[in-house]
Amino acid sequence: MIPFQIDTLGQPEHHSPLALSIADGDGVANFVSEETRVLFEHFVHTNRPSDTRSLELAGPRQNIFFQPQQCRAAVVTCGGLCPGINNVIRSIFIELHHNYGVQEVLGIRQGYLGLDPAHGEPPKKITSEFIEVIHTLGGTVLGSSRGPRSPEVMVDFLQSQQIDMLFCIGGDGTQRGAHAIAQEVNRRGEKIAVVGVPKTIDNDIPYVYRSFGYATALEKAAEVIRAAHVEAKGAINGVGLVKLMGRDAGFIAAGATLASQEVNFVLVPEIDFSLTGFLAALEKRLHARKHAVIVVSEGTGQHLLEKATEQDLSGNRRYADIGLFLKQKILAHFASKDFSVNVKYLDPSYLIRSVPANSADRILSDQLARHAVHAAMAGKTNMLVGHWNNEFVHVPIPAVVSEKKILDLEGQLWRSTQLATGQPRWPPAKIKG
Ligand code: F6P
Repeated sequence: MIPFQIDTLGQPEHHSPLALSIADGDGVANFVSEETRVLFEHFVHTNRPSDTRSLELAGPRQNIFFQPQQCRAAVVTCGGLCPGINNVIRSIFIELHHNYGVQEVLGIRQGYLGLDPAHGEPPKKITSEFIEVIHTLGGTVLGSSRGPRSPEVMVDFLQSQQIDMLFCIGGDGTQRGAHAIAQEVNRRGEKIAVVGVPKTIDNDIPYVYRSFGYATALEKAAEVIRAAHVEAKGAINGVGLVKLMGRDAGFIAAGATLASQEVNFVLVPEIDFSLTGFLAALEKRLHARKHAVIVVSEGTGQHLLEKATEQDLSGNRRYADIGLFLKQKILAHFASKDFSVNVKYLDPSYLIRSVPANSADRILSDQLARHAVHAAMAGKTNMLVGHWNNEFVHVPIPAVVSEKKILDLEGQLWRSTQLATGQPRWPPAKIKG
């Protein structure tokens, strides 16, 4: 079996209506051939055999599976909000309707709930008027929800609505739902394409270098860090402490730290930081510089806190508040030393994800959306549009949901944050999730 093989609904026997080329040098962009793939490993080691695994290159195919004029598509947005969702909805519609000629596109309301007619609201028809200004808005115009629904019920509904392709915009929980739908469709021998679009500010989806929403979240988070820095500098022994979202991965904290260049300590779930070591380093920093900025990611150091047992509807553990815990520990530590500090605690919470997408995320949302449409039109299914080695690729959803993407403590991003902060080096965390 080819690694990363993508499921298809059948032979693509129809000609694509897109006015693209198959020849180089004519100044017109080309259709993408099934034979062109993206190397999984982009390093070549001259002292050992090369890794030849590869991923399917995304893009418009010359031959497609569906006849666009007779096609009905649906879009669903699930999970937490993220800048760019509306941009993806809009670009999916435009690519389907204006470029392929699809007549009917339905917006499923409130996530997978809307695929369960007994509990959800009926779908909304997406039209040119409906999408006109949605790319300027945060949130999702279709509504969202967390939690799985019965795949049988959802596929019954898709069949009753004569849906040929479903676009699932969301993170890992959403993609697990998409996989369950694709499996049920396959079990019934139906021809419904299920294609995922990677959405999350946490940037923790495997095979996706950058999910849409992450860049905007970084921008907002860096603004908060700037404020923390100003506050810290404005007080005697001022400590700006910022808690950021990011659940089990420190990408937001690390990225925002690099974007701001004003952080002295960045604490992420991937490291096993020692509280005493951290407090000693903070003390040293305050003696030397009279102010400090700390960024902590929400899933960090949970073993230090009373274990929260609650879960959200997606099955994610709800974390105890590491930000407030650190604030208390810092105050108690310095009080015991009769050293007066001024802690300013900032928790921007949902503010970094409920805003409209910035330019970088608008562009990425558009590209991911259009690649999702090309894939579905070609009859690809049970797959997510990934971003790998700077190319858009098709990734089988089972590969996406079978692992978690976390910060590589030996990688370039974490190395840069270490250099930017100069903080002590802590070992990898033993407990994840
Ligand atoms: O996964 C995205 C995210 O924003 C996480 O960073 C955060 O932990 C979670 O969603 C919060 O989600 P909600 O409160 O909407 O369930």
